[in-house]
Amino acid sequence: RRVAVIGGGANDEHDVSLASAAAVVRAVRALGLTAVPLTIDRRGGWQLADGPVAAAHAITVLSSCDVAFPVLHGVDGEDGAIAGLLRLTGVPFVGSPVRAGALGMDKWLTKLVAEELGIPTAPGVLVDDRFDSAHLRLEPPFVVKPTPGGSSNGVSVVREAGQLSAAVATARAAGGTALIEAFVSGREVDIALFRDRDGALRAGSTLEIGVADGAVFDREQKYDGSASFTLPARVTAAEHAAIEGAARALYDTLGCAGVARFDFFVTAEGVVLNEVNTTPGFTEQSQVPRMFAAKGLDYPGLVAALLAAALP
Ligand code: DAL
Ligand code: MG
Repeated sequence: RRVAVIGGGANDEHDVSLASAAAVVRAVRALGLTAVPLTIDRRGGWQLADGPVAAAHAITVLSSCDVAFPVLHGVDGEDGAIAGLLRLTGVPFVGSPVRAGALGMDKWLTKLVAEELGIPTAPGVLVDDRFDSAHLRLEPPFVVKPTPGGSSNGVSVVREAGQLSAAVATARAAGGTALIEAFVSGREVDIALFRDRDGALRAGSTLEIGVADGAVFDREQKYDGSASFTLPARVTAAEHAAIEGAARALYDTLGCAGVARFDFFVTAEGVVLNEVNTTPGFTEQSQVPRMFAAKGLDYPGLVAALLAAALP
């Protein structure tokens, strides 16, 4: 079997994606399959293992594969773009289809879906060209984030109203539109799910992220190794049920496939959804592989299960 592993991407999660893709390539080879690495460079050009190629050629190579495993985080990848290309080429692929990718990448639309499902999220407002801060009904502290994107790029914590406009400008420069949310004070607890070949929705262990007191899990802490992970998270049975129930409802309602990670805050008032990642970080050290390893499914086993679910 030939497995196209697609990594990189023309966005600020490029390097994170390359690390995820390299790990998938290693696992595919360890499984005795042929890995065909395809990389999208920072400007959107395509590369094979031996150098740049025209997009048309890359698509021909893609079409010669039995299955694709895209690991493109962020805009023009995770947001449904790569799912759309793969769907049109007819190559079976691991991961979410266009709709789930697009909804999961848009933090505002994710919030609307969650609210409809009765899953609490932070009170928030969308900032687009029609936004007027005079009508903002929230009090600081805020978290200001681009509506699309990942790895906390463009995200700021605003503790005083006077810092808001700079934070909004940063977020909008990164993502076009932004979200101003009330800061949620709680512990971050994440869970991941995937649908296996038999149709069962399998959950990994919950994972709690430990950051320094008063810090947020920002880009630096995500990738400098300073955050600590606790598996399973220290949550009550009721909190666990709320987390897993919300994740399952979101997975199905968004229409996810493959693995998706659901990030929550556990607060004194209950569980609050932070966001959904339909192409979560996927190195051996990333959260999702650790969550499944804690349930007895190692990295190559997880890759094998995802490939099996994608193949007809
Ligand atoms: N956006 C990063 C890769 C994550 O969610 O893991
Ligand atoms: Mg994310």
